[in-house]
Amino acid sequence: MKFFSIIVASLAAVAAASPRSPPKRCTPGTYSCTTNPDTGGPGWRVCNTSRKWVFAGDCPPDTVCKFYPPSKSPYCVPPDFEFP
Ligand SMILES: *[C@@H]1O[C@H](CO)[C@@H](O)[C@H](O)[C@H]1NC(C)=O
Repeated sequence: MKFFSIIVASLAAVAAASPRSPPKRCTPGTYSCTTNPDTGGPGWRVCNTSRKWVFAGDCPPDTVCKFYPPSKSPYCVPPDFEFP
């Protein structure tokens, strides 16, 4: 299964390259997009001082959460919105 191990290896590389994977420890005071654990709807979360992600709020109806790297903040925007 050489082909399979190549896929696994590249997935591991992608995972290592991403700065924060969700269930792991986070940087306190940072925000990111997530889904409401109860409703499954779009929302955002904040990293608390225990370095745990906690759900912070729902996006309004007809919006989705998009992260805007220059301000390191998530925004609730219409689904077709693109940051300039
Ligand atoms: C951070 O969130 C975790 C998970 O919800 C919670 O157990 C912990 O008490 C929180 N820490 C603070 C300082 O609020």
